Amino acid sequence: MARAPVLPALLCLAVLALAGGADARKMVGVYELKRGDFSVKMTNWGATIMSILVPDSKGNLADVVLGKDTLAEYVNDNSAFGPLNGRVAQRMARGRFVLDGKVYHTYINDGRNSIHGGHRGFSKVIWTVKEYVAGGDSPYITLYYRSFDGEQGLPGDLDVYATYQLTSPYELSIRTNATALNKATPVNFLQHVYLNLGGEGSGDILGHTLQLSASRYTPMDEELLPSSGRVDPVAGTSYDFRTPTPIGARIRQVKGGKFYGYDINYVIDGEGMRKVALARDGKSGRALELWANQPAMQLYTGNFLNHTKGKGGKLYEQYDGFCLETQAYPDAVNHPEFPSVTVRPGQVYKHDMLYKFSF
Ligand SMILES: *[C@@H]1O[C@H](CO)[C@@H](O)[C@H](O)[C@H]1NC(C)=O
Ligand SMILES: *[C@@H]1O[C@H](CO)[C@@H](O)[C@H](O)[C@H]1NC(C)=O
Repeated sequence: MARAPVLPALLCLAVLALAGGADARKMVGVYELKRGDFSVKMTNWGATIMSILVPDSKGNLADVVLGKDTLAEYVNDNSAFGPLNGRVAQRMARGRFVLDGKVYHTYINDGRNSIHGGHRGFSKVIWTVKEYVAGGDSPYITLYYRSFDGEQGLPGDLDVYATYQLTSPYELSIRTNATALNKATPVNFLQHVYLNLGGEGSGDILGHTLQLSASRYTPMDEELLPSSGRVDPVAGTSYDFRTPTPIGARIRQVKGGKFYGYDINYVIDGEGMRKVALARDGKSGRALELWANQPAMQLYTGNFLNHTKGKGGKLYEQYDGFCLETQAYPDAVNHPEFPSVTVRPGQVYKHDMLYKFSF
C-alpha cells in the first residue's frame, strides 16, 4: 500500500510537535505504543517498560507489568521495575575484570560486587527518542544512548539503540544493538520486566506454569555469582522446567542468595532466535511465549519484593512477579569458560527479544 509509509511519518511529526519539537526528544517522557486493545507504555528514562495491557479471553484488560505510578518513582526505584540494564547487566564479581591485560574496576553496588552496570547504569540515564510512531500497524519507538569511555568504570565509547515495536497482534519485539566505537568492552543487556499474567498487584505468581527451553543452568553461590564456573544439568533438580511446571511447586527447595526462590541463570538450548520460555496463568488464561537470540536467561521470582510500593497504592510482596531476563552468562568477564561478552571496536552486539502474548 502506497500510503502506508506516509501515515507513520505524519503521526511521528504530530507527536513530536505536541511534545515540543526536537528538544523534547531528550526530556524524560512517557510514550505509548497502541495496537487495538494491546498497548505498551515506555519512558526514555532507563529505556523502561512501564506497562503492558493485555486482554483475557473475555476482553478484560490487565496490566501485566509491575511498576510505579510516577516517573519520579522510577527515577528513585532500586528494584529495577522494567528498565534495560547495561552496559554490563547482572552481577560482576568484585566489580572487577581484566581485558587485554588491563584491569578495570566498575561501580560496586551489590554487596562487594557490581550489578546491572553500576550505580548509574543504562537504567538510570536519559535515552534520546530517535523515532516514535504511536499507532498504525506496527507502532514503535527507537531509543538511543551514547555511553562514554569510563562510564561506571567501563572502557570505550559505545553507541546503543533499542527499538520497541508492536509487530503483530499482541506481540512486542525488542531489538537492541551496541557498537563499540574505540575500545574493546564487555556488553550484556537485559530488560528487567516483572510480569504477573493475572495483572500486577493481583497476588503471587506461584500458580503460573512455566516451561523453559533449558536443560542446563549455572549454579550460583551465596552472593548469586556463578563462582564455580560449572554448567550443570537441570535433570533431577528443582531447576528443571523442561515440562510445564507451576513456579511455586518447588520454590521452597531453592535459594536465591538468602531467600527462598529462583534467582538463577539458565543456559538456553540451541542458538539464534528461538523459543526460550512459555508462561501461563491458568486463572486468566493469559500466556506469554518469550523468544530471544541470547545464550542464557535469568529466572527471578521477585524474592526481594517485600511491601514494595507499586502502582495505585498497591504493595508488592515476595513472589508477586517474575522476571525472564534473557542475557549472556552472568560474570562472563571473569569466566573464560563461558561465552565471551567482549565487543571489539567496529563489532556490533545484538540482543533481540520477542514477547508473544495470548489468551
Ligand atoms: C541499530 O539499530 C538502529 C535502530 O533500529 C539501526 O538504525 C541501526 O542500523 C542498527 N545498527 C546496527 C549496526 O545494526
Ligand atoms: C520483609 O521485611 C520485614 C520487615 O523489615 C522482615 O522482617 C522480613 O524478613 C522481610 N522478608 C523478606 C522476604 O524480605
